[in-house]
Amino acid sequence: MLHGKRVLVSGVATRDSIAAAVVERAVRAGAEVVVAAYPKDVCAAQEVLAGLPQPVEVVAVDATSESDMTMLEDEVRHRWGALDGALHAIAFAPRSALGSVMDAPARDVELAMRTSVWSYAAFGRLLQRLAPPSGASLVGLDFDSARAWPVYNWMGPCKAALRSLNGYLARDLGCLGVRANLVAAGPLRTRAASGIPDFEVLVDRWDRQAPLAWDPADGSGVADAVCFLLSDLARAITGEVLHVDGGMHAMATYLRENPAGASPEHG
Ligand SMILES: NC(=O)c1ccc[n+]([C@@H]2O[C@H](COP(=O)([O-])OP(=O)(O)OC[C@H]3O[C@@H](n4cnc5c(N)ncnc54)[C@H](O)[C@@H]3O)[C@@H](O)[C@H]2O)c1
Repeated sequence: MLHGKRVLVSGVATRDSIAAAVVERAVRAGAEVVVAAYPKDVCAAQEVLAGLPQPVEVVAVDATSESDMTMLEDEVRHRWGALDGALHAIAFAPRSALGSVMDAPARDVELAMRTSVWSYAAFGRLLQRLAPPSGASLVGLDFDSARAWPVYNWMGPCKAALRSLNGYLARDLGCLGVRANLVAAGPLRTRAASGIPDFEVLVDRWDRQAPLAWDPADGSGVADAVCFLLSDLARAITGEVLHVDGGMHAMATYLRENPAGASPEHG
């Protein structure tokens, strides 16, 4: 599905990273892949990627740094001359931004936004400069931001901003044949998730309400959707948010009778 595609993947930190599953699948689907890892995660990323059928180079990039992003652009241009696809799988919020939204210091919210949102535009610029005439595909990772979740706090507004930005990138990159799409994933137990206090509350919601069974330890369905969006099969899709969440996004919030006849629980 990705034969001959030159793809840049960010966000590999552990074996559980969604991006690690994407690299594995993209390589199997025929892509050439370079990974851009946060400098502190470079060694861990190299370890995670060691067993792949083809070697994958890891470049150290802090996606909040304009100079690192310029260096990444130079690196890709030098290596391939052009880029067919990129996955943005980057998010971070300081602990203080994951408690009450009213208590978070402005500088911590700024860092969360810069890391989780601004960097998506920086990846868009990379493709603006490096896309071949045949076009390219940018994919980012979302968590349903249409509703206020019990524990997500400032990551919610970050994802809402990411979703809005996705539309603007689709608008501005379409003339180059560059597509911008998000995959909105259900909760997966990754390192980023472990930083969210009471993340298991979300897992529990999915367990009770998602129409399809949802395994929070299996990011492969999300990775497959990312590979689809990177591929030419999705050539007519841009500005889209593809939900890979077991159908949870389509469910109304509802009061469900407790089968044992006790008081109804709020869904
Ligand atoms: N895990 C979930 O439940 C879930 C659900 C929906 C969306 N997502 C999104 O998926 C994406 C990947 O997260 P994950 O769950 O695989 O967790 P993860 O911790 O494996 O990946 C997050 C990545 O962000 C990278 N990163 C953080 N700051 C960076 C910076 N300044 N520069 C470069 N890289 C930086 C980290 O190195 C790490 O590789 C994130 O955007 C996350 O919000 C996750």
